[in-house]
Amino acid sequence: SSQLAQLKTLEQQLQFLDTQISFLNADYGHLQQEYGMLQQQYESLHQTPLLIGQVVESIDAQHCIINPSTLQQNVLVRVSGHVNPALLKPMTTVACAREPSYAVHKILPSSNEQNQMMVNVESRPDISYADIGGYDSAKQDLIEAIELPIKQPQIFKQLNIVPPNACIMFGPPGTGKSLLVKAVANACDCTFINISSSQCVQKYLGEGARMIRDIFKTARDAAPSIIFFDEIDAIATKRHDSAGEGDKEVQRILLELLTQLDGFNNAEHFQAEKIYDYDDQETIRRKLNKNVVKVIFATNKPDVLDPALLRTGRCDRKVNVDLPTNREKRLIFQVCSRKMNLAKDVDFEVFVAKNAKISGAEIDNVCIEAGMCAIRENRFIVKQADFERAWEQTVGKKKIERRQTTC
Ligand SMILES: Nc1ncnc2c1ncn2[C@@H]1O[C@H](COP(=O)(O)OP(=O)(O)OP(=O)(O)O)[C@@H](O)[C@H]1O
Ligand SMILES: [Mg+2]
Repeated sequence: SSQLAQLKTLEQQLQFLDTQISFLNADYGHLQQEYGMLQQQYESLHQTPLLIGQVVESIDAQHCIINPSTLQQNVLVRVSGHVNPALLKPMTTVACAREPSYAVHKILPSSNEQNQMMVNVESRPDISYADIGGYDSAKQDLIEAIELPIKQPQIFKQLNIVPPNACIMFGPPGTGKSLLVKAVANACDCTFINISSSQCVQKYLGEGARMIRDIFKTARDAAPSIIFFDEIDAIATKRHDSAGEGDKEVQRILLELLTQLDGFNNAEHFQAEKIYDYDDQETIRRKLNKNVVKVIFATNKPDVLDPALLRTGRCDRKVNVDLPTNREKRLIFQVCSRKMNLAKDVDFEVFVAKNAKISGAEIDNVCIEAGMCAIRENRFIVKQADFERAWEQTVGKKKIERRQTTC
């Protein structure tokens, strides 16, 4: 009978466990549903555009203050459960959701990693002065403003004048501005940072001002260096009163650029540095080049630039790179065709004498096109006839287009 009683209690226990299992199963189903819902919510939060900002201060595990790049003031936001609050150090870039309420959702890679993609430090562009035909005065200007101060700062120190910080190159498209800057960077053998201004506005909307700061910091860390802002009109257009959000962003970038240009004035450092009689040339150069950053701007629309950028003290040298004169055209033809296999009858004088208003890029184009003509006829020698045809195809065509548009 005792065994019977034992069996009964065991049966009861089994029943109890069975009900428990069914309860747990039901619970599991509910939780699964909830998990699915949360997952969906999480996905949707990730899909809605997130706001970018920097952490100002981390308050506790659930809250922190951030400075969104599109807003003026700081905001207090929640930190999502899946973000590790220990990583929310000041100046970390984070992404925040706006809906349903502001909350930090993602930690973005640190600014340096991000900028590495953008600030491309080119060690040495392989273009020399000899690759550029003509433009001796522009070359001379750049050598005086950039190359000489970097290579032989002691000359300036002895004269007690501070070499220029920045210079701007302007002239019509295709006249070799970018090329000249690369040649200078090559001759200087220093850090060369090549920035395409329009790209930096588009790519880093909302982050532009900070990026300018980072560019200058990178440059200073790797001094002596040259920063080249190509097509600067994308950033430095005249400030006007009625501005949309995009314009405001561009203006913020410009203001930051102006601040940076003023901030790291080389003058104080240059004058403060002491040179002793026993210092050798290399030491002097190193001392004077510490923190030296030269900035070169290039544009083909100088008239739309903000005058604040151009005022003396910021941009001391203005290098005009105009369309080539006849003498320069001759030189550019020679440079562009120097590696080509030319027939004896080739005479560029014919084209120079046409007095066409063409740029160096167009001359380069004529030479390439002439080469193509020869290739089409299976020749290894480029003849005058090829150049004539190429001229007709490139420059002649352009003339016709012009006439049509003016009609
Ligand atoms: N003086 C020159 N000597 C040799 N090649 C030249 C010269 N000027 C221009 N070129 C040719 O034209 C091309 C374009 O030149 P570059 O990019 O420097 O023009 P740019 O003045 O910067 O024009 P943009 O204002 O449109 O940027 C060069 O890659 C080069 O092949
Ligand atoms: Mg250019």
